[in-house]
Amino acid sequence: MRAIRCVNYGEPSGLTIENLDEPVPGPGEVLIDVEAAGLGYVDALFVRGTYQVKMPLPFVPGSEVAGTIEAVGEGVSSDLIGTRVMALSPRGALAEKIAIPAVVCTSLPDDMSTSAAAGFIVSYCTALYGFETCGHLHAGETVLVLGAAGGVGMAAIDVAKAMGARVIAAASTAEKRDAAKAHGADMVLDYSDPDWRKALDVLVEKRGVNVVYDPVGGAYSETAFRCLAPGGRHLVVGFANGEIPKLPLNLALLKRASLVGVDWGGEMRANPKIMSPLLRTLTDWVVAGKIHPEPTASFPLAEAGDVLQRLLERRMVGKPVIQVNA
Ligand SMILES: NC(=O)c1ccc[n+]([C@@H]2O[C@H](COP(=O)([O-])OP(=O)(O)OC[C@H]3O[C@@H](n4cnc5c(N)ncnc54)[C@H](OP(=O)(O)O)[C@@H]3O)[C@@H](O)[C@H]2O)c1
Repeated sequence: MRAIRCVNYGEPSGLTIENLDEPVPGPGEVLIDVEAAGLGYVDALFVRGTYQVKMPLPFVPGSEVAGTIEAVGEGVSSDLIGTRVMALSPRGALAEKIAIPAVVCTSLPDDMSTSAAAGFIVSYCTALYGFETCGHLHAGETVLVLGAAGGVGMAAIDVAKAMGARVIAAASTAEKRDAAKAHGADMVLDYSDPDWRKALDVLVEKRGVNVVYDPVGGAYSETAFRCLAPGGRHLVVGFANGEIPKLPLNLALLKRASLVGVDWGGEMRANPKIMSPLLRTLTDWVVAGKIHPEPTASFPLAEAGDVLQRLLERRMVGKPVIQVNA
């Protein structure tokens, strides 16, 4: 089978396609014929070897897959063969076949494309868990999404809109802001402008925002926290900017505001039961047309390394999905 394999940590642009043996599904596993794989910033950090946890070498990168079950291992019903599914796996998505436990697979609604499913689970579950459980977002509130044209940011726009919020999307280039607007943001903001807080004040008529969704970190975070309305919630989602910010705690007191960590992955490991209601709500919303997870960017397998490089270098617009059979 064709696969991308990371043999040494380094720049993802150096990754190439190799021919590897097909995996054989073990007890409790299914073999998936992978059609599409979703990529995120973390996948690129794994290849560089700079994520907080190092992936043992060699490994096939990519943690989100969608495709069709082709074979089953011992103890798994053969009725599953032919089912279209999406799943998470710690590694292995950038390959034509993957063997993973049957229990981590979710079947796709008929009207959800495999491309949409491949980029769905991580960013949409994080958004719903973040806004609902951590942020207590209410309809009518105003949300500021940082890094809004990234994979996590685009899903946040979609989910916040589905929950009835007014969404302001912050992104660094006109192309990214256009993409965020096309994905449903009500307003956009150029947060590469050092005076972006003033521009936001104009947008919200100095009333502040109720929730900040922050997958970026760096200097953006403190400014965003200062933009909260009284009682606001700042959701800490990630640090794509590289720098982990510090916050003067008097700001939380003065604004009666909360700083809330959104570790969906950690929560899922500690409490796996949260996964199925989250996914059920989200797939129901897909079927009802309340959310629109179609990826903004699709690429063939041969370009996967370049795509990961672009994520590291802030050059990707939207959630990239790799068409593994292309
Ligand atoms: N908490 C959770 O459960 C959870 C789940 C999934 C992912 N995450 C985290 O969420 C973050 C975003 O992931 P993602 O897959 O959405 O990444 P992404 O698609 O690359 O988006 C990240 C965005 O951050 C902005 N950014 C600002 N400074 C940057 C820099 N120096 N380098 C790269 N991007 C920069 C970019 O937008 P602008 O150019 O517009 O600034 C970019 O679009 C990551 O830190 C990831 O670890 C957290």
